[in-house]
Amino acid sequence: MENRTEVQQHNKEEIPKEAIRIRPMVVEDIPMVVAIEEVSFPTPWTTESFVSELKDNNLARYYCLEINNKVIGYMGLWLVIGEAHITNVAIWPGCRGQGWGEYLMLNVMNEMRKLGISSITLEVRVSNTTAQNLYQKLGFKPAGLRKRYYSDNMEDAIIMWAHL
Ligand SMILES: CC(C)(COP(=O)(O)OP(=O)(O)OC[C@H]1O[C@@H](n2cnc3c(N)ncnc32)[C@H](O)[C@@H]1OP(=O)(O)O)[C@@H](O)C(=O)NCCC(=O)NCCS
Repeated sequence: MENRTEVQQHNKEEIPKEAIRIRPMVVEDIPMVVAIEEVSFPTPWTTESFVSELKDNNLARYYCLEINNKVIGYMGLWLVIGEAHITNVAIWPGCRGQGWGEYLMLNVMNEMRKLGISSITLEVRVSNTTAQNLYQKLGFKPAGLRKRYYSDNMEDAIIMWAHL
């Protein structure tokens, strides 16, 4: 994708605030979102799954983090009876480790709070300590295991919850 190399340059400290935006995902974002998804997950969601989420799932909310109009990350949730279930969150590899994931999640969690959502949950691979560290920093606590949850390697998932 032609804009990949451009988004790799972004260091959070050097970006003016007005260049940073979190906004609802639209169908036009999907190629970049799928590109990030494919380098982030062993069983990535397809273009069709994102299209279906945006068009057919009334419970779904998807957000993009963009810098200078280029998407560098995204986050999805399902809103179910006062709770938010995070479906996916990822940052373009060249932009990781600079606070963008935390920034995206904090802002989306604030948005959920404004919508009256009282708690938020997710599943994370036992081996994904990077994501677990991020979630713990944001107030998520482990609340159980889903055994053999991931079909690619039968890895267990840790269920985590946070109050908003
Ligand atoms: C998980 C992910 C979204 C984090 O985004 P990020 O922008 O790299 O994270 P941030 O720079 O905002 O870091 C926030 C916190 O996460 C943790 N963290 C980030 N990178 C880490 C690393 N390499 N090792 C350990 N902890 C790390 C730290 O707690 C960090 O806080 P600190 O900087 O005060 O130590 C990103 O690594 C990613 O896209 N991974 C692939 C997809 C994925 O695993 N998604 C989660 C599925 S459940």
